[in-house]
This record gives sequence, structure tokens and C-alpha cells, in this order.
Amino acid sequence: MSIDYNERIPNNVNLSDNRRLQRALESWQPKFQDWWSEMGPEGFQVQDIYLRTAVSVDAKGWANFGYVKMPEYRWGIFLTEREGERQVNFGDHKGEAAWQEVPGEYRSVLRRLIVTQGDTEPASVEQQRLLGATCPSLYDLRNLFQVNVEEGRHLWAMVYLLDAHFGRDGREEAEALLDRRSGDSDKPRILEAFNEKTPDWLSFFMFTYFTDRDGKYQLGSLAESGFDPLSRSCQFMLTEEAHHMFVGESGVNRVIRRACELMNEHDTDDIAKYGGVSLDLIQKHVNFHFSVSVDLFGQELSTNAATYYTAGIKGRFNETKIDDDHMLTDASYPILELLGDKIVEKREAALNAVNERLRDEYIVDCQRGVDRWNKSIKEAGIDFEIKLPHRAFHRGIGTFSEVKATPEGKIITEAEWNSRHAEWLPTDEDRAFVQSLMKPVTEPGKFAGWIAPPARGINQQPVDFEYVRLT
Ligand SMILES: [Fe+2]
Ligand SMILES: [Fe+2]
Repeated sequence: MSIDYNERIPNNVNLSDNRRLQRALESWQPKFQDWWSEMGPEGFQVQDIYLRTAVSVDAKGWANFGYVKMPEYRWGIFLTEREGERQVNFGDHKGEAAWQEVPGEYRSVLRRLIVTQGDTEPASVEQQRLLGATCPSLYDLRNLFQVNVEEGRHLWAMVYLLDAHFGRDGREEAEALLDRRSGDSDKPRILEAFNEKTPDWLSFFMFTYFTDRDGKYQLGSLAESGFDPLSRSCQFMLTEEAHHMFVGESGVNRVIRRACELMNEHDTDDIAKYGGVSLDLIQKHVNFHFSVSVDLFGQELSTNAATYYTAGIKGRFNETKIDDDHMLTDASYPILELLGDKIVEKREAALNAVNERLRDEYIVDCQRGVDRWNKSIKEAGIDFEIKLPHRAFHRGIGTFSEVKATPEGKIITEAEWNSRHAEWLPTDEDRAFVQSLMKPVTEPGKFAGWIAPPARGINQQPVDFEYVRLT
């Protein structure tokens, strides 16, 4: 079904047939607009931005590109079409028809999962709201805004589920999603990584590479849900998410390529005085953003995750492609645990290790981009390798949050950590240096001195296309 853009809220869910829901969403819409003007990107609200908008939910050719002013972006409700009759594919309800309504017994856990996912969407927009002022190019500025408007749309996707399926509680949660604020001590966002600052563009690229990728894995597991509307919502969000991770991976790669250029040109590692971000400093940012993002997968062993799985609410990534009983009755799974100051592998009940499995898959996926970054370094003839830190490094959640570890995964004392962490994580001085590079470049086709131009433009437009019309 195509998306109806004649409606006040574009959608492919026959919204006009459900007056109650339509009214609920239409009364939330102006509140969302208020939130966007208060907490969305600062500035650039009256400019034309070259953005893509979803026009269908067909995997091929779903998007349309054109100039849009952000407040006029057509946020709407788009669910992937159902292919035939779907079933619950795992857990105790395996083989039953997928649920079109929320099963009463799972109402509160489902609401919690939807709210937690929904909360991350506006949070990242808030974290990124000041970046426009220091864009390294119009191309990058456009990509930032594309990510921002789509995170806004992801919020719509979750609010639709709350309003359509959770009655009055759902409406209250929908309002609360607009009330919390990233980094606010009184009403913070739910997950810690979404209360961190994204103060500069290097952090933005790291965030979209590492933290949006957590989103991919969470959405992927929710796309397996037996609750069909949630599954279909998340499926379509994943289509949009791919571009966010592309922005991150290619962004970091361009910073690396520029660093290598400066190193070769000046025959030194110390490129700060030439306005570049050194590979060491990039590594420190990788250490930070990776460690904060792996925390998002929660405890290694989780009875909550087991409950979600058994209930058929949240599956494993690519659940139906896994060759097993999809019940995890007697299955075990290897996990890393602490034994004194040693890290050892132990087998635990797979059902309790669902989070850890997802984290493992995430880490493998993170490594793929790191390999491509290293290829750029190698091609420049430079002997340096970016490495993902060990999962025990700099953790705030789970077993390893109890200890201090080096990026190689060696357990160290608190005293050693205190004397060495500045080697591994960005210091205030490092952050101030990166901040000093953040000078806006807004002439079409021009790029800041710390980042290489992209290989190609967006939607087959040239790199020097006017992606944002500033005047
Ligand atoms: Fe998102
Ligand atoms: Fe995203």
C-alpha cells in the first residue's frame, strides 16, 4: 500500500478509518512540532534542505529526494507490509498466529520496550542539536539533518504503537517522550548513552557508527516480535537506519583519510598543528563510543531478556535464520566472566544470555567498518591499526563494570587506571582540541581541513551540490 500524503499525518495504516486513533495522534502532532522547534536542530529551520522522504514501504525505491524546510517534513506512520500470515517464531507461543493486538499478560513489558526504544529517538536529536553551527560542509550538514528528521520519524513510529495499542497509558507515555531531555538531571532520557553530549562532528560520526548500530540490533530483535505491529514498525525503521550508520562509517573514514594525507604531506604523526585529528585521537574516540554503546545491550545474563524471549516479544537478531529449536530449552551459550582478576569463558543457559549473543553480533558488525577504516590507512602506506577495545574496557553496565581493564582486556588496579586512562580515552584537552577544529564551512563543494570530501554525493548529486540553501 502506498503512503497517503493527502492526510494530515501521512500513513499506510488506514488512519482515517480509526477516528479515535486519528484524534489522539492529531492532538500529539502540535506537541511534537513544539518539541522540534525547541529541541530540534538549532537554526536552519527556514532553509531548504535536500532531504529524502519515505513515499512507499517498498524496499526498492521507497524514498523521494527534494528540498524541504525541516518543520514541514512529512513525519508519518509507515509499517512494512505483512507477507502472508505471520507467526510467532520463537518462545512459548511459537507457531501461533502473530498478535495484531497486545496480549493482556504482556502489556506492561511491551509498553516498556516500546517506550525505551522510543526514548532514544528524540534523545539523539537533542544530543545533536547544536552541530549545525560547526558543519564541515553542506554535504555533512544535510546528512545531519537527514538523520535528525528520521529519528523524529522513529519517534512517530513508537508513538503510533503507544496510541494505537495502549489506550490512556500509551497517550501518557507519548507525552512523556516529549518531556524528558537528554542530559537533564531532573528528567533525563532513559538510557545513559543518550544522556552523553555529542559536542563535535567527530563524536557525531562515532555516535552514528557505534550507537545507531546498537539501534540496528535492538530494532532487528524487535522486528522478530510476535506482536506484529511492532515487528512491522521496526522493520521499516531499519531501512532508514542504514543511512545513519553509513554517515558514521564514511564520516570516520574521511577523518582518517585526511589524517593520513596530512601525515604523508608533513612526514609526521603529530598533525594537530596542521589542523588534523591524529589516528591516536581517533582511536581514543573509538574506545569511548564503542564502550558506551556496548553497555546498551545490558547485563550479560538477564532474566528480563529471557522473559521477553520466552514470551515471544523480543527475539534474537535474524531469529528465523537461526537453525535451532527457537525455544532455547537446553541450549547453552559461551560468555566471558570474571574469575578474580582473570577473564574466563563459561557456558551459560542460552536463554539467559540473549543479550550477550546480541552484543557479540554487534561487536562483529562493528569490526567490519573498522576493517574498512584500516584499509584506508594501509592504502595511504601508514603503519597503524584502529582496534576495537576489549569488551571489559570502560564499562558502566554488566560484569566488567566492577573492574578496570586496559583496551586489551587486562584487568588492572584502580590506581593504574587513574594514572593511565588519559592514554585511552579523550581528555578534556583532547576534546577542546577537536572543538577548536570545528569551524563551519558552508560553500558548496568545500570541506573543513580536518576531513576529506566524500567519494560521491547523495542521490547521485555531485559532491558540490547545494545540499542546503542557506540564503
Ligand atoms: Fe532511530
Ligand atoms: Fe538512527
